[in-house]
Amino acid sequence: MTRARASVHAFAADAVAAGRLAEALKVPCRLVEVHTFPDGEILPVLAAESRTVIIYCPLDHPNEKLVALALAADAARRAGAERVVLVAPYLCYMRQDKVFHPGEPISQAVIGGLLGSTFDRVVTVDAHLHRIARLFAVVGPAEADDLSSVPAVAAWLRPRIGSGAVIVGPDAESEHWARPLAAALELGCLVMRKTRRGDREVTLALDDPDAVKGRQAILVDDIVSTGSTMAAAIGRLKAAGAVGTRIVVTHGLFAAGVIEFLRKAGASEVISTDSVVNSSNAIGLAGILAAALGNEIDP
Ligand code: R5P
Repeated sequence: MTRARASVHAFAADAVAAGRLAEALKVPCRLVEVHTFPDGEILPVLAAESRTVIIYCPLDHPNEKLVALALAADAARRAGAERVVLVAPYLCYMRQDKVFHPGEPISQAVIGGLLGSTFDRVVTVDAHLHRIARLFAVVGPAEADDLSSVPAVAAWLRPRIGSGAVIVGPDAESEHWARPLAAALELGCLVMRKTRRGDREVTLALDDPDAVKGRQAILVDDIVSTGSTMAAAIGRLKAAGAVGTRIVVTHGLFAAGVIEFLRKAGASEVISTDSVVNSSNAIGLAGILAAALGNEIDP
């Protein structure tokens, strides 16, 4: 029997977004069935009928997902897949890229090594690479694609922004996204300075408050987790006289209650891409993912 060229596979929680990707690629989408044994161990079963198996698995809540993912990749190879590709629109554990305090691991290297030795290719969006320039340095020998969300975010924002809006990044690390987005939308851009004192304790400095006075601010970052960074940024912008601050984030990891917390802090809107499933999803990534994966479906 001739094998199909490629298929997309996903765990139940990600089936809808995986379906959008499969549709864009015009390939079948299959669910990975997971049996849980009474002792908690799991057995993923994957219908790998194609030569290239694309596993779609955003890696939020990674401690719950990584074992299932590694087992599913092994299942794909044992079923005869010649190529196993991970599409993880959100790539976990990238922020711990050095030993900040004695006794800590470099989580980025550990998880990158695991994924790089499990998959032939790792495709993600807006990987949080701060001190490392290229994703291949993290997941090599696997091929690595770190796609930018900027075209998708800019296309979504363009018809929704007033003239005179300003793009604001809350910290130096957000500059990677804030500057190209501002350039794509032909808007001004400001980047704040952040000092983090704990998981939920940050202070921000805005060097040029007059630049936002009376203007709509669009706060952008790659990740929102506790919302502390964005809440502090909204506070600074309000104090500087900005009007109607919106939050646009690539990966809305959102600990419990964070969207509500940000609305109460003064965000007029909280928007994210669909890299991590949640109620703020508005910007689809299937188009940019499918464009990058085109070579996997060529005959
Ligand atoms: C950090 O470098 C990231 O870009 C985000 O600013 C950070 O992860 C946001 O975390 P939180 O929402 O917990 O302040």
